[in-house]
Amino acid sequence: MQNKKTILVTGGAGFIGSNFVYHYLTNHPNDKIINLDLLTYAGNLSTLEGLEGYGNHKFVHGDIRDAKLVDQIVAEVDMVVHFAAETHVDRSIMEPAIFLETNIIGTQVLLDAALRHKIKRFHHISTDEVFGALPLNSTEKFNENTPYDPHSPYSASKAASDHLVRAYGDTYGLPYTLSNCSNNYGEFHFPEKMIPLAITNLIDDQKVPVYGDGLYVRDWLYVQDHAKGIELILENGEVGQTYLFGGLYKDVNNLELVKMILKIMDKDESYIEHVTDRPGHDRRYSVDFSQTSMKLGWQPSVSLEEGLHKTITWYQENQAWWRPLKEKNQAYFKKQYQERK
Ligand SMILES: NC(=O)c1ccc[n+]([C@@H]2O[C@H](COP(=O)([O-])OP(=O)(O)OC[C@H]3O[C@@H](n4cnc5c(N)ncnc54)[C@H](O)[C@@H]3O)[C@@H](O)[C@H]2O)c1
Repeated sequence: MQNKKTILVTGGAGFIGSNFVYHYLTNHPNDKIINLDLLTYAGNLSTLEGLEGYGNHKFVHGDIRDAKLVDQIVAEVDMVVHFAAETHVDRSIMEPAIFLETNIIGTQVLLDAALRHKIKRFHHISTDEVFGALPLNSTEKFNENTPYDPHSPYSASKAASDHLVRAYGDTYGLPYTLSNCSNNYGEFHFPEKMIPLAITNLIDDQKVPVYGDGLYVRDWLYVQDHAKGIELILENGEVGQTYLFGGLYKDVNNLELVKMILKIMDKDESYIEHVTDRPGHDRRYSVDFSQTSMKLGWQPSVSLEEGLHKTITWYQENQAWWRPLKEKNQAYFKKQYQERK
């Protein structure tokens, strides 16, 4: 039997972090997770209710920028898996400062503690948005050698955090791994993001906002496939390496995606509402994950069609989870979408 490990997961009350915590503890009942989360608007304790019976999950309400708290926790752990971040591009355009504080300073606080306590692995979760945008209708894809070219305050702050992690590896010998993934979707996704916003609006018989002409291509990855990929990196990843995760083999633009959701939910195209575009909106993301497949034996196992069915069913059956979140964030939704019609 493998030795028992203790892992600090940051941001484990958010979307991907919580999916990872469920996945990991189910597969590793002898390991322990300390889940540090500030519970910003994006973090939710109700997401973690299913873990109540798990003696190996400990939730700590706190800030990754709090050096004293982080030091105390990191002293107890073997590994850090770092998800915590400000993550919404639209919010970063409205208020960039908190993105720099959380995503850059917060990461540096964790890195310092990881070095001090000589942890075995620091895994940093990043995004394909650090690579910038690809031309529409091209066959180009991002890969491990694509130069960084972030366009939004969000992606610029994530790019800075990636550089810091690698710099701590090069300068101080920190044993890190890093992954850049494409857009995730699935259970526990905050209802301000595109797919859950569309689904929850349609459940309430409301229209679905689509930015500009809708010809924006994203590489959709089902969140449970991502959680599996991170688990593989912790188990078999090579220190100092970067792994890319994507979900699709063929481009799907936002308009096509919304039409797929409308079809599954039995609604017609009159539910599409074009709203004023986001400034600096990247046209196309697409990820070449062949190196990750080769090195880790990972590939996405859930097709977009199947993942959308699962996700729609989950939002239909879990209205008690998303309704209070949507209600609490009415001011944001009004500013972001209704005033842009
Ligand atoms: N969602 C995606 O499609 C996507 C794609 C690529 C990369 N990523 C990356 O994956 C990670 C997780 O993304 P997500 O979508 O789950 O985000 P999320 O916004 O759903 O969750 C972020 C979590 O971090 C917590 N948090 C924020 N500031 C904190 C702080 N100072 N201290 C402690 N906790 C704090 C929040 O409370 C929340 O629970 C991020 O690093 C993000 O950049 C996400």
